[in-house]
Amino acid sequence: MKTVVTESPAEASRFIRDGGIVAFPTETVYGLGADVFNEFSIAKVFAAKERPADNPLIAHVARVSQIERLAGEVPLAALKFIERFFPGPLTLVLPKADEVPPIATAGLETIGVRMPGDPLTREFLSACSSPVVAPSANISGKPSPTTWQAVLEDLDGRIDCVLKGEPSQHGLESTVVDCTSDTPIVLRPGAITLEQLREIITETAPYSGDESGEARSPGMKHKHYSPRANVALGEIDEAGKVSLLQAQAFSDDPSECAFIGIHSPTEEFALEKIVGTLEEYARELFEFFRECDRVGIATVICESVEENGIGVAVMDRIRRAARR
Ligand code: TXA
Ligand code: MG
Repeated sequence: MKTVVTESPAEASRFIRDGGIVAFPTETVYGLGADVFNEFSIAKVFAAKERPADNPLIAHVARVSQIERLAGEVPLAALKFIERFFPGPLTLVLPKADEVPPIATAGLETIGVRMPGDPLTREFLSACSSPVVAPSANISGKPSPTTWQAVLEDLDGRIDCVLKGEPSQHGLESTVVDCTSDTPIVLRPGAITLEQLREIITETAPYSGDESGEARSPGMKHKHYSPRANVALGEIDEAGKVSLLQAQAFSDDPSECAFIGIHSPTEEFALEKIVGTLEEYARELFEFFRECDRVGIATVICESVEENGIGVAVMDRIRRAARR
């Protein structure tokens, strides 16, 4: 299959309407989309990504009114979150409407719904006529792509079209909040932080990251976001010396290692990225993982950061990447 690369949201949307699959930019990461009501197209998304069939997809809408056809009911908490955070980097898990084919939600009775804020994404989604289900546009298990080039690296020849846009603004996937029980529960941390959610609904339960949290969020139990290189959490002392937080069996020789973090190490690493803020850390992390693989780095050391605000999401993604 030849993958068409276009800057035209209208052209990209034609592929969706014709039953094809299209990668498109969003403010979080690039997604791989199909018409939510076309089960054959959705099956192509699972095949192209090699995604496990038990991992449900997020449905993306251009307008709040489109949520009606996706969700059987919109709980009050969800209405409040929609009012405050849509469009934006937030996915709400709601009871699913019968019309949505089971393959979209991996057989679950619930559906994740998100309205992206990026203007190009919204133009594309508006032109698609139906909502678009989209997982991140990577081969399953790899870091999510934050540029159109990274999408092609994984999916060239496997998908109909890529809509070319800017690098993703946030760089980590959306915050996922389950709104189907009395207290909203954060299933995946992201750019919308727990603090922000609690300003709207005080009882919102934090992300637990343990097995009870993973049982509610099928995607979180799968291996995620990993480069080929080993990933290790590190810290850096006043003198700029880097040490690993856990003893690891692999090389910590700086010439074979890469470093990403807020502080500058004194040793020279083969690849280094020093970020100014947690937001920049989030934005750069996945592309840095990919760059490390392009040049054959053995180990990526990621500086540990405080788990506040988007630091929760950054540390979650690093820990997942470090799992073997
Ligand atoms: O930022 C994002 O959310 C990106 C862009 C493209 O929108 N999409 C994305 O999709 O990250 P994906 O498929 O890579 O991750 C979706 C996550 C998975 O962890 C999945 O298990 C969870 O959302 N999820 C989706 N529907 C769910 C549901 N009904 N119940 C619980 N978790 C759900
Ligand atoms: Mg993904």
